[in-house]
Amino acid sequence: LTGFITLDPGYKNSGSCTSKITFLDGELGILRYRGYAIEDLAEKADFLEVSYLLIFGELPTAAQLVQFETDIRKHTLVNEEMKNIIDGFPRTAHPMGVLAALTSALTAFNPKSVNVDNEKEMYHAVCKTMGKFLVIATWTYRKSMGYPLNYYDNTKGYVENFMRLMFQLPTQPYMDNPVVIDALDKLFILHADHEQNCSTSTVRMVGSSQAGLFASISAGVSALWGSLHGGANQAVLEMLEEINKNGGDIDKYMAKAKDRNDPFRLMGFGHRVYKNFDPRARIIKKAADEVLATLGVDDPILDIAKKLEAAALEDEYFKSRNLYPNVDFYSGIIYRALGIPTDMFTVMFAIGRLPGWIAQWKEMRENKEPIGRPRQVYTGATLRDFEKK
Ligand code: SDX
Repeated sequence: LTGFITLDPGYKNSGSCTSKITFLDGELGILRYRGYAIEDLAEKADFLEVSYLLIFGELPTAAQLVQFETDIRKHTLVNEEMKNIIDGFPRTAHPMGVLAALTSALTAFNPKSVNVDNEKEMYHAVCKTMGKFLVIATWTYRKSMGYPLNYYDNTKGYVENFMRLMFQLPTQPYMDNPVVIDALDKLFILHADHEQNCSTSTVRMVGSSQAGLFASISAGVSALWGSLHGGANQAVLEMLEEINKNGGDIDKYMAKAKDRNDPFRLMGFGHRVYKNFDPRARIIKKAADEVLATLGVDDPILDIAKKLEAAALEDEYFKSRNLYPNVDFYSGIIYRALGIPTDMFTVMFAIGRLPGWIAQWKEMRENKEPIGRPRQVYTGATLRDFEKK
């Protein structure tokens, strides 16, 4: 029968996948990690608790959480020779490019992490990745500023360490502010996993060839960098700053976003799956108000964001296409209030998404899934006789 393609038995394993980790309902705007509503986790859990849930399938007991944090702390020292790699980059290098390179380089210093053949080796690789990735992610900022690289402080928590690793010497005045730490913890939770998005599918695909965890995560970092994916949070801020520079002319940018001949898109709007409000955007919008109020920051960018959101939600073009604010629309406003530079925003997304990448890679490996091999519908030339031109 022409026009029909036969699906060989291997096909079913090379396209979509089954997973027990995250559930999305794009029509209803529902997001659950291992069955728990994102709204509950963001309000009642902390980032390492949620990381444990995603990776191991159950919320940790108090003792398991203490043990997990203790085991992560054992791996927060990064081999000093890794500094030779970061020193090879210009200060102007984009942090996501540096992070992808450093993550892949971790394999060279931890060769045993390539093959995790049992539960003990898997747990070891999980803790090592959670510990080292946070440190090298902050090193990309320190490098760009020409500052000395900081070390993890084992007397502080995971999210507190992020602020110290980033800002210590010079010290940010609110480095230990509980509202700031809580907002960051919530942001990391909200970014932690999102089913088979572009970067997570990349991590699973690379890992399915038996490539190691660091190499697979490095590939995920590269996929997340794109402006249509994790790079959108940086693109949102650049868009809002441009609108602010142009007198806050919302109508001009709404018209550009709707003009089919203009490649401009309203960054932070729309989603491949959510055709309703992204539940994460609602929570982040509330956190943005709280953080800016606590820090006494009066940011015109936040006002522009709210006006843009209101205009888009009323607009027929956006409503007819189910375009709503997504996770990236408000997150950058919080990062900016904390003094994090825009080119570090996607690194923030990567830090949050790390436990999801690990959980999905671990699930794929434990399911002993075959190497990913998507098929295609061939639309090229039929057989031709070779004749020199
Ligand atoms: C993330 O997959 C995930 O889960 C990703 C993520 C995660 O947690 O991992 O949620 C994180 O990547 C969020 C998305 C961040 N990206 C952006 O904010 C970039 C701006 N958004 C768009 O580029 C777009 O909405 C996408 C890429 C996010 C989704 O694209 P779709 O679903 O493929 O939509 P489409 O390209 O098919 O567009 C449908 C229509 C088109 O118009 P028509 O052809 O019908 O006339 O909607 C229009 C598009 O032009 N459209 C937009 C728009 N997004 C879609 N028009 C203006 N502004 C936009 N943002």
